[in-house]
Amino acid sequence: MSDAPTAAVYGAGKLSVDAPRKPLSLPRLAEMRARGEKITMLTAYDATFASVMDAAGVDCILVGDSLGMVCQGLPSTVHVNLETMRYHVECVFRGLQRTSGTAWLIGDLPFGTYHESKEQALRNASVLMQAGAHMVKLEGGGWTTDVVRFLVERGIPVCAHLGLTPQTVHSLGGYRVQGKGEEAAATLRQHALALQDAGAQMLVLEMVPHELATRLTTELSTCHTIGIGAGNGCAGQVLVLHDMLGINLGRMPKFVHNFLADTDGDVKQAFAAYVGAVKSGAFPDNAKHAW
Ligand code: KIV
Repeated sequence: MSDAPTAAVYGAGKLSVDAPRKPLSLPRLAEMRARGEKITMLTAYDATFASVMDAAGVDCILVGDSLGMVCQGLPSTVHVNLETMRYHVECVFRGLQRTSGTAWLIGDLPFGTYHESKEQALRNASVLMQAGAHMVKLEGGGWTTDVVRFLVERGIPVCAHLGLTPQTVHSLGGYRVQGKGEEAAATLRQHALALQDAGAQMLVLEMVPHELATRLTTELSTCHTIGIGAGNGCAGQVLVLHDMLGINLGRMPKFVHNFLADTDGDVKQAFAAYVGAVKSGAFPDNAKHAW
């Protein structure tokens, strides 16, 4: 039985937004983690959503390559290119600048832009950093460890991404839960520890069993786990903007909650409700949103 509040509670009452805060940074994220405060992250792709999210108290904004599916109508993230990512990072950056935004901004390196060599990864990560990102994200474990080390040594903060890695959906055979069974869990753990060792400061864990994600979170002291379909034991949570507003055209994944439905269609309140639910530990509910 889950003892988390019901969904309706997520948006109950007017939530305080626009509270002044210092800009988010790696030391501030580490402080939050040390005092047990959950890190909140949402994806955004344009200036307006980014600044509204920031005002609602979202800690980190990810310009995810999910934009290929939700903005460009592509069948998967495999089709997204670097120029598109650069453009959207710049849009989000401008939105935050215009409204004195304080969120930590992460840009996704798309498929094929860090696979060839460490030098290629540096060149392309620099494009996103110069567009305004504070950190880049890249998918996969094992072979990515050297790439991560190379970038971190050169002053580029890195968020890794393990579990269901959408850029390799064709190799994985679909959007399925990863890390199930002893062998798969051991490989995932090995990759996660190596990524932390290489200097990755964050790690998105997508669609992995919640017990595994919780164990990894305990083991990774300097690399903050950010779950999406990985249960409530992670250091933080991320959702795709369109999913959490309930405007996903396809089937809504099990790990999503429609926060807009809880807040009478008030988008800023929906973001604040998400922040409140993640910080309080009410979302996600392992019994409902995890495996
Ligand atoms: O591209 C994206 O939006 C992502 C999130 C699902 C974490 O990688």
